[in-house]
Amino acid sequence: MSRQSATLKGMFVGRKDGILERFAAEVRPVVEITEWQTDPSRGYGAIRSAPPPVVFVDLADDPFTRLNLASRIVKAAPSTLVFTVCSTKSPDLILEAFRVGVADFLVWPGDEGQAGTAVRRAVEKLGARRSKGEVYSIFSMKGGQGVTTVALNLVDHIRQLTGEKVLLFDLNLYAGQAGTFLDTGAAYTPFDLQRDLKRLDQDLLFSSLLKHERGFYLLPCPEEISDADRIARDDVARMLEVLTTFMHYIVLDLPHDFSGKTLAALEASDAVLLVFQQDLAAVKLTLRVLQFFDESGYGKDKVRLVLNRYNQKAYLDVEDLSKVLHQPVFGTLDNDYDGVMESLTKGKTVDMVVENSPFNVQVRALAGRLTGVPVVEPLKPFWRRTIERCLPGSNGKR
Ligand SMILES: Nc1ncnc2c1ncn2[C@@H]1O[C@H](COP(=O)(O)OP(=O)(O)OP(=O)(O)O)[C@@H](O)[C@H]1O
Ligand SMILES: [Mg+2]
Repeated sequence: MSRQSATLKGMFVGRKDGILERFAAEVRPVVEITEWQTDPSRGYGAIRSAPPPVVFVDLADDPFTRLNLASRIVKAAPSTLVFTVCSTKSPDLILEAFRVGVADFLVWPGDEGQAGTAVRRAVEKLGARRSKGEVYSIFSMKGGQGVTTVALNLVDHIRQLTGEKVLLFDLNLYAGQAGTFLDTGAAYTPFDLQRDLKRLDQDLLFSSLLKHERGFYLLPCPEEISDADRIARDDVARMLEVLTTFMHYIVLDLPHDFSGKTLAALEASDAVLLVFQQDLAAVKLTLRVLQFFDESGYGKDKVRLVLNRYNQKAYLDVEDLSKVLHQPVFGTLDNDYDGVMESLTKGKTVDMVVENSPFNVQVRALAGRLTGVPVVEPLKPFWRRTIERCLPGSNGKR
């Protein structure tokens, strides 16, 4: 799954003249520009339907409109490296370009070798990111803390942010609820995966797995009560070993126990999100779980505390909790009864029904911090940026 290869294919969106053909020659050792789109809307359409690994956007003589295009490409094709190419070095433009999430701002014509080096550096950084998928476990010892809710909304945001292959794996093998929450109906389950594991290849996996309309994959439990004991600790370890070779991210909805299966999942995880609420019983149990993780050799960088249904007016606030639990709270999620209930009733993720709810924004931020992919705020229209610049102190809000 390594993305690094000798030469990547790229697309150039913008003018085609002698100067830019020299640019293509400069970056050719790293990226071969195989498609040249002089019409920006056509370019955008082509990228949306088949995202190339690399795109160069020429800012030309209409830089802010072209930056808007770059911003749309970053969002529509999150796994594509997007560079802007411009003949001038305006600080405002450079700042705006990085804010919308481009990989680098290339000045062309520029010093010999500079653009090529910048492109090589960005490509190598991406290639080195990882060769195996990352596993995030969502866990709490106490039931009802929000493990399933966090898992399925997190998986949705990771997919929207990265555009990569993302899987939600429900390990509540007796009667998992992830599939019920998303109203998936009958599906390929962990029991089917265990049966197919020896002959599993990419084609079999992706033709069998349920794909949600939002683009992430699901491995939910059967609708009827199942015999969880048919799957053993080693099976879970093997399933994760194989799945990480096909998936970029796996989010595990874990049961509230320390069975061998749960321990195998926790051990295979790059990060464990320990979900808890503010009541004393949950906090006490969380402290015991943290002690157990500590004895098991899990570092504080692996275990992250997520405070769900956070109420700022409660007796113990985030600071108190961080002190009691001897580690900082990694993320807080608001109590969002209406948003979460509406999403459950409709069998959708919260982002699909109330995009702007604080809970949704916080889960998106959590996904950004876990994956390291920046959460890009929408680009403000040109008129708003101008007003904000002309009226100091105005942030554009009414
Ligand atoms: N941030 C939130 N705001 C409002 N309601 C929430 C929030 N998080 C979870 N809930 C609600 O709390 C209940 C328990 O959540 P969930 O099922 O996700 O927890 P769980 O830890 O997976 O529970 P279980 O023990 O059933 O596995 C659900 O009804 C869910 O809708
Ligand atoms: Mg659950």
